[in-house]
Amino acid sequence: MIKSVILAAGKGTRMKSQTPKVLHKIFEKPLLGYVLDNVKNIADESFVIVGHHAEQVTEYVEKNYSSAKTVLQSPQLGTGHAVSMVCPHLENFDGQVIILCGDTPLIKEETLKDFIEYHNSQNSDLTVMSTVFENPTNYGRIIRDTDNSLKCIVEEKDATQEQKTVKEVNAGIYCLNWAKIKPAFSQLTSNNAQGEYYLTDIISWGKKQGLRVNAYILKNSDEIYGINSRQNLATATKIMNDRKLSDLMANGVTIVDPSSTWISEDTQIGSDTTIFPATYIEGENIIGKNCKIGPCAHLRGGVEVADNCKIGNFVELKKAKIDHNTNVGHLSYIGDSELGSNVNIGAGTITANYNPLTKEKSKTVLKNNVKIGSNTVLVAPVTVEEGANIGALSVITKNVSAWALALTRSPQRILENWVTKSLNK
Ligand code: UD1
Ligand code: MG
Repeated sequence: MIKSVILAAGKGTRMKSQTPKVLHKIFEKPLLGYVLDNVKNIADESFVIVGHHAEQVTEYVEKNYSSAKTVLQSPQLGTGHAVSMVCPHLENFDGQVIILCGDTPLIKEETLKDFIEYHNSQNSDLTVMSTVFENPTNYGRIIRDTDNSLKCIVEEKDATQEQKTVKEVNAGIYCLNWAKIKPAFSQLTSNNAQGEYYLTDIISWGKKQGLRVNAYILKNSDEIYGINSRQNLATATKIMNDRKLSDLMANGVTIVDPSSTWISEDTQIGSDTTIFPATYIEGENIIGKNCKIGPCAHLRGGVEVADNCKIGNFVELKKAKIDHNTNVGHLSYIGDSELGSNVNIGAGTITANYNPLTKEKSKTVLKNNVKIGSNTVLVAPVTVEEGANIGALSVITKNVSAWALALTRSPQRILENWVTKSLNK
């Protein structure tokens, strides 16, 4: 059994924000969500250490992650003190604990699995993840003995000039055999430059106890990129996006212009689909094979598009399930909707799904073979049955029966010679 502890009590001063750092978003998902998602198949239970803005972080965790608990750390006396907060919750626990930071969203599930496998294969009691940075400033340095075994971790502020030249740094991810390491948490001291209880001191503690302590060297250091500022947030978004686009292209998706295309990690796309420039796809979505998306399309999550569909320019989709061979070509908003197969949506069609008075959202259902004329407003809740047509510029507020034509626009009038008469006046 594995438990995870995610450190998320820190202040995040450099974000200059009212929002707690770990709730800042990449593709509309909070940073903490990425970390929790990456451990959810590894740990059966996660403890999120909260402090600054604890209520907001707790609300997010409780609403979205049933296998996670929050534990309050107040005041925040350092990373070692933060982890010690879980001791009462893991009193008789005898398995492994993996420790991560809530502001490091790029770590991959496969890497964490490999890390734990390494811990097991080395028969380790404590494994820390390290990586090599050309510029290691601000990170804790990994100090090794002459026989290359791990000795201790020294923080930047406590390091000697010589130690500062070390490029192997502490990535801030640990795996511990809990029962063996737990006693360390009542023995840590704050005798250091920052007056904090450092989690990193468990390394030298473990060595002194004669425990097996190892470092796992992470090859792709991007994965432990931490967010401390808005600049970091933009860089992490770019790294995540580049990773996703490469994966998609490797799996047969054409991305016409990777430099202007943004696709969330939680979006699946089938082969032979083409994504045209300036498309932004956030949240969880499933797009089928052989579709054309964009240019300038915005998919906002909860979107399912089956094979051979076209989602054209300036189309926004949110919570929309669209069956095969359906086209939403131009300038439309389709939300909270279900569209059948072979449906055609004319330019400028809007599903009016939101009632701002009641704040309720309602559903639009368009069955197979429905054709919607341009500039139609479909006022939800509304269903258009199979094969029905809607004339252009209609406002549809009532259900439409199969194979019918619905029109709400006023009939065209022609006033003969109206212009000439007006000019003669
Ligand atoms: C820490 C490590 C450093 C490592 C780096 C990797 C320590 C002492 N140092 O430094 O060796 O290279 O991470 O990113 O551990 N937090 C709490 N409660 C606290 C203090 C911090 O929950 O009392 C949380 C923060 O919110 C953050 C994480 O712990 O998510 C790390 O804290 P931070 O202050 O960023 O530590 P670093 O100085 O970066
Ligand atoms: Mg940090």
